[in-house]
Amino acid sequence: MDAPHLPTSPGFWRSPLRGPRFTSVLGLVLLVGITVLFVTGLLSYAAYNPGLSPVNDKTPDKGILGFYLFAWPTHPHWLYRLTQGVHVTLGITLIPVLLAKLWSVIPRLFALPPARSLAHALERISLLLLVGGGLFEFVTGVLNVQLDYVFPGSFYPLHFYGAWVFFAAFLAHAVLKTPAAVRNVRRMRGSEPAAVEGELVSPRPAPPTVSRRGALWFVGGGSALLFTTTVGQDFDGLRRTALLAPHGGAVPVSGPNGFQINKTAAYAGIDPAETSAEAWRLVVTGRTGTVRLSRAQLAELPLHSSALPIACVEGWSTSDQWWRGVRLRDLAALVGHEGDPPDLFVESLQRHGAFRRAALRANQVADPRSLLALYVNGEDLSPDHGHPARVIVPAAPGVLNTKWVARLTFGDL
Ligand code: HEM
Repeated sequence: MDAPHLPTSPGFWRSPLRGPRFTSVLGLVLLVGITVLFVTGLLSYAAYNPGLSPVNDKTPDKGILGFYLFAWPTHPHWLYRLTQGVHVTLGITLIPVLLAKLWSVIPRLFALPPARSLAHALERISLLLLVGGGLFEFVTGVLNVQLDYVFPGSFYPLHFYGAWVFFAAFLAHAVLKTPAAVRNVRRMRGSEPAAVEGELVSPRPAPPTVSRRGALWFVGGGSALLFTTTVGQDFDGLRRTALLAPHGGAVPVSGPNGFQINKTAAYAGIDPAETSAEAWRLVVTGRTGTVRLSRAQLAELPLHSSALPIACVEGWSTSDQWWRGVRLRDLAALVGHEGDPPDLFVESLQRHGAFRRAALRANQVADPRSLLALYVNGEDLSPDHGHPARVIVPAAPGVLNTKWVARLTFGDL
């Protein structure tokens, strides 16, 4: 007996907006958007060069899910700025579409019987993984970039494994539903004859307050608002418009060092006594032994400049800054790696933090733009930008461009 006061009854869902065409448009947008999110997310993990050293790998138990990994390139120098900027900005922009899609299919989640056949049962299980996985990915992603990651368990494995579960369920769903979705959208355009509306349509709809097209414009408007208040975090000229982004708004300081930072020297626990000209010595170790260099001695070595951005894993980035310093490959040559720069293990003065140590692959060390920077935009690095010296490498995630460098070890990691 149908009980319209219960969500299990189609009569409970009164909105006249629901229907396969409304759902299909949202579904097709998500088909493209989530695929781009998944690919850029996988690239984000690959950019860590996780196979190079345990210090770079926050998801060491990934097993076969790491099958796609490759040596992250240094060209183009803005690569990670692009992929991670797209990942985070698109993720946030898609939130209204995801929520509207979930709202449009919610009657299905309550429909009885739970399973009419084995195929139907499998489809419903994939729907639960799809909805649960999707919400999980978006929630963990947003919490991560909003810097108040309060989720139990480390973000990296949760978001990484969640991505695979979600995308597998998403792929199954897309294979099952895309043909019908394309037909429905064609019908909206009137290029195909009208069909039976199907189970998403309310059998007793409430009077309409807005048209389906109006509702789609509303969702699009929500996405446009999130896009315009997020994308500015990647463009200096627009940064003030990035109202929703933790690293949006005005830059904290002006002048040559006046560009975005993630962790300040104070936050990283850097003791100024350790960074003074008297106290600080860079320790460089390699095939022929160890050398210790003061900042003054480093400044006497051949210096080079590179125009490179800071591209953070949280999705924000700066425009290219002019860094000046000693090439990493020249420092490798100082300790016996003339002409064949090997991998590099970098250690910071930082006492805590997941990225106080990082590993760089030989191709990154060999790139002539990869520097141990002493200056930026014509001025000494400020303490918050890593004074006395920091690593800067093209196309690498910000976390691998170690600040307050104390030790460089060239050779097998
Ligand atoms: C609002 C939505 C999302 C936001 C804000 C977001 C944010 C992020 C951030 C900040 C990272 C880099 C974390 C780091 O390295 O520190 C990341 C990595 C990643 N994201 Fe997302 N994400 C979102 C949605 C998604 C979705 C829907 C998928 C899958 C379909 C996905 C897949 C991944 C993967 C595979 C990684 C690499 C994880 C790792 O480095 O271990 N993300 N995401």
